Amino acid sequence: MLRGYKELWFAFLACVLITGLYGAVIFWTKAIPVASDLFGHSIGILGFILMLLTETLYSLRKRSRSAAWGKMSAWLQFHIFTGIVGPYMVLIHTSWKFNGLAGATTLLTLIIVVSGFIGRYIFTRIPRTLDGLEIEGTLSQEALKRARQLMSLWHTVHIPIGVALFISAFIHMGAALYYATFLK
Ligand code: HEM
Ligand code: HEM
Repeated sequence: MLRGYKELWFAFLACVLITGLYGAVIFWTKAIPVASDLFGHSIGILGFILMLLTETLYSLRKRSRSAAWGKMSAWLQFHIFTGIVGPYMVLIHTSWKFNGLAGATTLLTLIIVVSGFIGRYIFTRIPRTLDGLEIEGTLSQEALKRARQLMSLWHTVHIPIGVALFISAFIHMGAALYYATFLK
């Protein structure tokens, strides 16, 4: 069960700290850090690593039958935390330019985060144990059935967007590293 908004508050706090650091860099350098600079590059890579962890860890824990390390709810909280903070770091990396494939990758990132919030809302409507298993009975059967249908519909949209996002991100990284970093 996902109780309260703890992970959202932690994510918000992390974004405030990152904004502070970003402000300090702008203050020192008197310019908006470009995506291929040390700061812009580092924050893009770190943010992307967090996004990769978001894509993989929760699914691995959910599907692993043998290794039941940690509560599912804690993994989902971590998923949501990294799923907000990672994209925020990547957004700072863009230096507010959204041309071509990199711009499309940013749009996909934004869509998956918004979709995540919708999924979180539906997910919390279904009563569960601490380990994420659904419990019958607390809601009316009709409402429970509807929430389950919505959740599975949501999965069929959310998962392909994630796959498209990572394909486009890897192509962007290859092209950006080749043209903007190694050819310099
Ligand atoms: C989902 C993750 C990412 C997104 C959404 C993203 C998005 C962007 C955007 C919008 C730009 C600006 C493009 C423009 O000038 O119009 C950019 C530039 C750049 N990105 Fe990323 N990026 C991501 C991850 C990464 C990673 C992990 C790396 C490094 C391995 C990277 C390397 C670069 C470089 C070198 C540039 C500068 C390109 C240039 O100066 O022409 N990006 N990125
Ligand atoms: C980089 C951003 C994100 C990516 C790549 C991502 C990816 C995924 C993937 C692949 C799944 C399917 C897990 C599975 O069933 O195996 C998932 C589920 C989920 N995500 Fe995200 N997500 C992101 C951000 C978010 C955010 C920001 C939230 C909430 C605010 C969120 C909430 C959820 C919820 C509630 C589920 C459903 C869990 C379940 O049915 O067991 N995600 N996400």
